[in-house]
Amino acid sequence: MKRRIAAVLLALMVVTGSQAVSAEDAVSSATVDITGMPAIQESDEATTLVIYFSADDTVKAVALAAADAIGANVFEVVPEQPYTDEDLAYYTDGRCDKEQADDSARPGIAEWPESLEQYDVIFIGYPIWHGQAPKILYTLLEGIDVSGKTIVPFCTSMSSGAGSSADNLAKTTDDTNIWLQATRMDNQITADQVQEWAVSALEEAAG
Ligand SMILES: Cc1cc2nc3c(=O)[nH]c(=O)nc-3n(C[C@H](O)[C@H](O)[C@H](O)COP(=O)(O)O)c2cc1C
Repeated sequence: MKRRIAAVLLALMVVTGSQAVSAEDAVSSATVDITGMPAIQESDEATTLVIYFSADDTVKAVALAAADAIGANVFEVVPEQPYTDEDLAYYTDGRCDKEQADDSARPGIAEWPESLEQYDVIFIGYPIWHGQAPKILYTLLEGIDVSGKTIVPFCTSMSSGAGSSADNLAKTTDDTNIWLQATRMDNQITADQVQEWAVSALEEAAG
């Protein structure tokens, strides 16, 4: 995993339920700078949750900056079997390439979110892998109940758009939830831009 600016980042603890997720080594390929951002504290009052999967910390930085802006709780989707650099090397017919090409692939999740009852709005963040969401997002959405929630999908990528990635994720959920249009961010997005987007996305979700 790249750790280009890791040295300048402060330790940041994001408390998610009973679990503490350390973000001290975010960010790698992203330019979102969360240096000095206060720790995000889990709140029983929060009605918004930011769920994210990030293999190389770009989505992670975006997710944390967004959660900070809107006072959301955070949950990181951690794979049961971590992705190695070799797995992540795409167009090598490695693990990620194989999973993305396999409709039935559902990589395991190490720990599941606790009750989602308190949340009205759930942001879901992921990197684009071969034009789509990583298969672990399908594992997640098939394993949790998001009925009645408004979902705000967002993704990062080198160059591809969000395409049909969120529409395909939405097919795994029932029709009681509302999915906003997916927002794609490139790896050069700044924390200010993320925070501005998060506030307006939440307004749209609430509206
Ligand atoms: C297996 C794999 C497939 C990818 N496919 C695409 C793609 O189709 N289009 C694209 O623009 N970027 C692609 N990328 C690049 C990532 O979407 C991009 O670097 C993203 O910001 C990484 O987020 P992360 O650091 O949170 O994991 C791919 C990366 C991996 C590992």
